[in-house]
Amino acid sequence: MRRPVTAITRQVSASINNCELSFHARQPIDVAKAMAQHKAYEDCLAGLGVRIVSLPAEPELPDAVFVEDPAVVVDEVAVISIMGAPSRRPEASSLAEALSHYRPIKFLVEPATLDGGDVLRAGRFIFVGLSQRTNQEGIAQSSDMFRVYDYQVQSVEVRGCLHLKSACSYIGHDTVLVNRSLIDAERFRGFELVDVPDEEPAAANALLVQDVVIIPASFPKTRALLEQRGFRVQTIDLSELQKAEAGVTCTSIIFNHGATAVEDRGV
Ligand code: GLY
Repeated sequence: MRRPVTAITRQVSASINNCELSFHARQPIDVAKAMAQHKAYEDCLAGLGVRIVSLPAEPELPDAVFVEDPAVVVDEVAVISIMGAPSRRPEASSLAEALSHYRPIKFLVEPATLDGGDVLRAGRFIFVGLSQRTNQEGIAQSSDMFRVYDYQVQSVEVRGCLHLKSACSYIGHDTVLVNRSLIDAERFRGFELVDVPDEEPAAANALLVQDVVIIPASFPKTRALLEQRGFRVQTIDLSELQKAEAGVTCTSIIFNHGATAVEDRGV
């Protein structure tokens, strides 16, 4: 039996066209289409048995739909971060309030910065990206918090993309989907590595839910590769939020819920 899983999501802000962009050129986002795609994403998770807690939009905070970034949740604790982009920091308070119903809350303190997109969990291993959003102090403070609960924490330098999980994702079965040009993949020694196809360099962001790997529909070669290797894959259309530099992990914060532990999973 699997543990019940909860996903916190947040509705798309009407102001999303003012989102932060670091590596992408700005393109107009069709807000209605983005909202419909986000609803389909929530429906996909619900179809996999995930309980959805959907928070109302934060109209003045363009990036607030990307709930992965203000917090990192593991079984024992939720760590509320100070995000690397100052414009995004007000997103944290309502998320902390929502998470306080499920986990004890701890807070990073300045001068730490950290985005949840830079934190990859694989069982008892946690990898934290050193990126343009997450600094050494953010890595140090979060590592201290996770080590209290016996996680093995390692830092990974990220280059040429927004977050660690733009470069790699844990997809179950001790396997990491990776674009090796963006990180030093040696950090994942001991894990099986699956390289994204050359034609799909942005495909390394994948969301593991139960035993299903969710990826954007825009990466068919990655889908075929994963299916050849025996993974169960579902695709979703993420075209509008991809213009805001999003991946499939960005728009939910997923955590185990309940006491019956049988299967471990990544975050
Ligand atoms: N637009 C997502 C971010 O930059 O945080």
